[in-house]
Amino acid sequence: MTGPRTATPLAEQDLPALAALLALEGLPNQDITAAGRFFWRVDALDGFLGYGGLEVYGRDGLLRSVVVPPERRRKGDGCAVVDAISREAVALGLERLWLLTIGAAGFFERIGFARAERAAAPPDIRASAQFAGLCPGSAVCLRRDLVSTAAGMDGRGKL
Ligand SMILES: CC(C)(COP(=O)(O)OP(=O)(O)OC[C@H]1O[C@@H](n2cnc3c(N)ncnc32)[C@H](O)[C@@H]1OP(=O)(O)O)[C@@H](O)C(=O)NCCC(=O)NCCS
Repeated sequence: MTGPRTATPLAEQDLPALAALLALEGLPNQDITAAGRFFWRVDALDGFLGYGGLEVYGRDGLLRSVVVPPERRRKGDGCAVVDAISREAVALGLERLWLLTIGAAGFFERIGFARAERAAAPPDIRASAQFAGLCPGSAVCLRRDLVSTAAGMDGRGKL
């Protein structure tokens, strides 16, 4: 997948479609209308790629709700979605992304995230609903430092 991608903030009326896709994947969706959550749909010239979201805690962000429709997977769209959300994170002033995942640690490791101890996450991240209860203790914690500028980011968090 090449070409421009756009990240469009989700409006309230778009959230049920996101919640439905998250529910299909067994991902947390009961809290998506709570304060402090930001969600985007990511599109390329040939259409919808997927969704992604952020929770903002100072300079740290919780990357969440990254989902590509099943029929589009393994073509680079997940990487493009994370790239687009990472640019939004940089624009919001974030310096690090954290996430928890059960089944996609290998995907995130391929695109520049590194495994981390949950205890290494800042207190606000550890107190987030995902860390505090929505994701099981067996979920893998990963982090990625964001570059200081989004220009030229290659989808793996590098310039
Ligand atoms: C995880 C997900 C977003 C990946 O989307 P995708 O479009 O298939 O990913 P890409 O095609 O961009 O994959 C990028 C690389 O990661 C690899 N990869 C993809 N999914 C993987 C997985 N589950 N485990 C290990 N590696 C994976 C791809 O093979 C590719 O490797 P390559 O660069 O060597 O070819 C998608 O499978 C999904 O929506 N899963 C359900 C929701 C989910 O679990 N989200 C994560 C929790 S926030």
